[in-house]
Amino acid sequence: MKHRANLILSLILGLLALFAISNFYIYAPDVGQPGGPIDGLSVVQLKKFYEARDVFKKVFTVKEGLGPLYNRESCYSCHGYPGIVGNQGLQPAKAEPIKSVTDTFAKSFPPGCKISVPKDRAISASLAPALWGAGLIDAIPDDTIEDIELNQTDENLSTTGTSVSHRSHVSHQDRIGKFGYKNQYTSLLDAVVQQMSTELGLTSRYQRSVIPDCLRAFLPEEPNDNGSILAKLNYFLALTAPPKRGKIDEACNRGRVTFEKLGCAQCHIPTLQTGPQYIVLDPDSQFPTKRYLRITALENREVNAYSDLLLHDISDGVSGGRLRTAPLWGLRFRKYYLHDGRTNNLEEAISAHAGQAQSVKEKFSSLGTQQKADLLAFLRSL
Ligand code: HEC
Ligand code: HEC
Repeated sequence: MKHRANLILSLILGLLALFAISNFYIYAPDVGQPGGPIDGLSVVQLKKFYEARDVFKKVFTVKEGLGPLYNRESCYSCHGYPGIVGNQGLQPAKAEPIKSVTDTFAKSFPPGCKISVPKDRAISASLAPALWGAGLIDAIPDDTIEDIELNQTDENLSTTGTSVSHRSHVSHQDRIGKFGYKNQYTSLLDAVVQQMSTELGLTSRYQRSVIPDCLRAFLPEEPNDNGSILAKLNYFLALTAPPKRGKIDEACNRGRVTFEKLGCAQCHIPTLQTGPQYIVLDPDSQFPTKRYLRITALENREVNAYSDLLLHDISDGVSGGRLRTAPLWGLRFRKYYLHDGRTNNLEEAISAHAGQAQSVKEKFSSLGTQQKADLLAFLRSL
């Protein structure tokens, strides 16, 4: 009897010890890697990060809220390589929902009760952008971007970038757009709300869909997500690591000088700074009650994104229009370039700059062979 009591006691002690250790230690081999967590996080934050990451990789079913109109069944399937948040090797995707669950899973629905993709929808193909370091970009204060815009206006009106502000779907406040090729999303959370609904058809309290009555009984309740999917996706992306620089040699260093001298850095600003306080929705909030957490690892930190996060018209008048200066970090992992992925040749991507970047592009074209090679070596080290 005593023996058994001892056994139970040591079992309980063992479990308690395990519990205690698990609050101080977590196996996190990919800190600072693409798709892994940013450095400087606590064990609790790392745990929440890995749990949240699973939602980004999760394949959703109709019962879990996929559709009725959708594009793919997981976030990962478009944004997935390398390391979960990059976009190397992926072909451009249609940026609008192009499938309907009543077509793809026809057997699950009564005949005649359909929802169709509008035929006249203008669908253009876009590359799914790499999402690494998204939290750092989110943490750059609006003031910083307004200051850059003013500075550019002082320097040269014809190449000035423009900021756009939108009403946030979540906070209902006007904020400067920093995400999306046209800066159409004001914050990371807003981008996630809208991506959930456009790409997967997952509705949240911030974005609902229109469903024919005859389908209601066969689809999950609206909104599909009470908040926890949204909060997890947002948490994962907020804490995901920025890409580290690759190997830097002499050619890269010379190339960097040329990059600045030509004027590339006017738009592709090498380094910005995050603000003094960053808070994020707790992925373990008991919705509808929301809780926010402070993430000090994202505060007062350098963001080496090589972008001013402003819109510029670098088009030849035919394609594009105003686009956000593409962040160049992680360029070495990329296979297709420009928002529509129209080329896999880095030099061609630079030659495609026109409009506000015309004079800088011309300076690039007149570089000698060695200088051009150095510049490309620099870009490939990002
Ligand atoms: C069908 C492919 C596809 C799927 C699936 C997809 N995305 Fe996207 N995502 C895109 C494209 C394309 C853009 C660029 C849209 C634009 O700016 O017009 C984008 C943009 C984004 C952005 C803004 C990034 C930036 O730097 O501006 C975020 C954040 C994002 N997606 C998150 C998600 C999340 C979270 C999911 C899953 C709920 C998801 N995406 C599913 C293709 C996809
Ligand atoms: C007037 C602002 C401006 C200047 C100057 C400029 N760029 Fe860009 N750059 C942009 C914009 C905007 C894009 C996004 C175009 C797109 O997505 O189609 C871009 C995209 C790129 C890309 C493709 C990145 C990607 O994600 O696919 C590369 C590479 C690039 N720029 C390099 C350069 C180099 C090198 C120079 C100097 C010779 C330069 N840029 C000068 C605004 C500028």
